[in-house]
Amino acid sequence: MRIICVNNYDEMSEKAANIVASQIILKPDSVLGLATGSTPIGMYNHIVKAYESGKISFQNVTTFNLDEYLNLDKNNAQSYYFYMRKNLYDKVDISIENINIPDGITDNIQEECIRYEKEIRNKGGIDIQVLGIGRNGHIGFNEPDIKFEALTHMVNLDDQTIKDNSRFFDTVKEVPTKAISMGIKTIMRARKIVLLASGKEKANCIYEAIYGKITPNLPASVLQLHPDVVFVLDKEAASKLDSEEIDKEYL
Ligand code: GLP
Repeated sequence: MRIICVNNYDEMSEKAANIVASQIILKPDSVLGLATGSTPIGMYNHIVKAYESGKISFQNVTTFNLDEYLNLDKNNAQSYYFYMRKNLYDKVDISIENINIPDGITDNIQEECIRYEKEIRNKGGIDIQVLGIGRNGHIGFNEPDIKFEALTHMVNLDDQTIKDNSRFFDTVKEVPTKAISMGIKTIMRARKIVLLASGKEKANCIYEAIYGKITPNLPASVLQLHPDVVFVLDKEAASKLDSEEIDKEYL
């Protein structure tokens, strides 16, 4: 595990974008696992800049998103499909057939989960998986008490997550209560993982994810077992960590 601490949100975003861009430069047909939430927005902005300046191309890149809400139309501004188009896919040269996001309006959830796993396998697995983290330590939508051996599956969202995500909706009642998410096993199969966190409200879950007991109660703690994981944190998210063990890369 590597822990990189930078000064602020923008430096975290730039650092993470550089890691993803390097992956694409080294392997132009990379398979990327991508995340949503407010945390990676800055990273996507930097990735788009790298594309615009000709440093990277998505022509041969394939992407798999971590999760999608259930029963939210793709054109709903809060769907993760909409988010990804707005923040990345509409701004780079990726082919539509190389974009994969779980279908949240499927008639057959189980089949959709199996199809998604198969697609990932058919593409040779995920080279680099980007993650954010929920305040309760969730990754993707793998909420506390998840089974570590889970593959892509339907999840019931935690009350805390519904409350946290209600800031994007007009009322808390509009927040979907279910989603389809890659499972912990799917995430752990990625060859490399980069987790981003910013702000003091993430300091506790980051501390627990890195130093705490490995437990399904804090899903991100499983990352301690991954052979190639890097945490990119701003000072506030890293504020509870032992500073001796952190690579400080203040830009
Ligand atoms: C959602 C997403 C997660 C994300 C989390 C944190 O629940 N499913 O992938 O990491 O929110 O969001 P934020 O970055 O807005 O704090």
